[in-house]
Amino acid sequence: MTTLTERPGAIRSVSRLEPVALAATRAAAIACQRWVGRGDPHSADAAATDAMRAALAKAPGIGNVVIGEGEKDAAPMLYNGEQVGNSDGTRFDIAVDPLECTKACAAGLPGSLATIAIAAPGTLWAPGPALYIEKLVVGAAARDAIDITARPEDTAVAVAWALEKTPQTLRAVVLGKPRHAELIGRLREMGVHVSTPADGDVAGALEVLLPDGSADLLVGVGGTPEGVLTACAVRALDGGMEARLAPQRQAESDALADAGVELERVLGLEDLAPGESLFVATGVTSGSIARGPARVGRAWRTDSIVISDGSVRRVLETSFDRDPKRRA
Ligand code: FBP
Repeated sequence: MTTLTERPGAIRSVSRLEPVALAATRAAAIACQRWVGRGDPHSADAAATDAMRAALAKAPGIGNVVIGEGEKDAAPMLYNGEQVGNSDGTRFDIAVDPLECTKACAAGLPGSLATIAIAAPGTLWAPGPALYIEKLVVGAAARDAIDITARPEDTAVAVAWALEKTPQTLRAVVLGKPRHAELIGRLREMGVHVSTPADGDVAGALEVLLPDGSADLLVGVGGTPEGVLTACAVRALDGGMEARLAPQRQAESDALADAGVELERVLGLEDLAPGESLFVATGVTSGSIARGPARVGRAWRTDSIVISDGSVRRVLETSFDRDPKRRA
């Protein structure tokens, strides 16, 4: 495993960047509160991205946004390849989704999160023109049982076996998208309990990874940024994950072919997030993973989850405005 200490110019441990990561997701979650339920996903996403980018500008070092906004959402900031930080020489990789579940935020529905992952420099998987990947995520107990090339029925049996369950007591998360209709049907046919949120496969993966989570596996096609963010959380908690490119439109397939990318290759954790990594999410609209920000007088109280080095911490933080002019 690559750690930050092994690379020249790298900061000593990814955990040193936890305050920066938390500041970034908190800022994003707070900034888009004015857009919750306003029916304007673009403005909500822009507010979150802008605030996260401003927070990351203060990070000690040079952060390379390996995967972020930009490609799928055609966003102008925190795009793949952008450098952030105060340039003091230390380097690290970043994956971001400043507003995961943009539509839920705009519709005032539960479950949107501000998310970031930070990893050793040069370690995170760079997606190139890939916008979508197929993901299979399990917790530590089932990590040796997965094979993304297997039939879903065989995966369900293998994961159930590893967890000392049966397919009839297995709980899966599959995004409720038309492309998953057959997959959902096949799993339900064998008796698997399948929950089908409209959006949010990062939250779905967290339901699998967290000790008190509500699912045993996440399977299906979602965004590449969400895939790398998820891989960082999986890596930090010793879970299991495999992925495969899954272009959803002709333009994406053409771009991958032009780049000479091998579509069938199975990506494991060693490809997606091979080194030490830190994952942080702050609730934007209250859901099962975290609550949305709440006003406490003139301050905001935020609810975040920090995953690193085998541990999960919940951070409830209330920040008061220390500027007396603004406080008055
Ligand atoms: P956003 O951050 O773009 O709101 O992503 C929501 C989401 O549901 C992700 O969780 C998932 O990976 C992706 O969209 C799937 O993309 P699509 O909605 O285009 O199928």
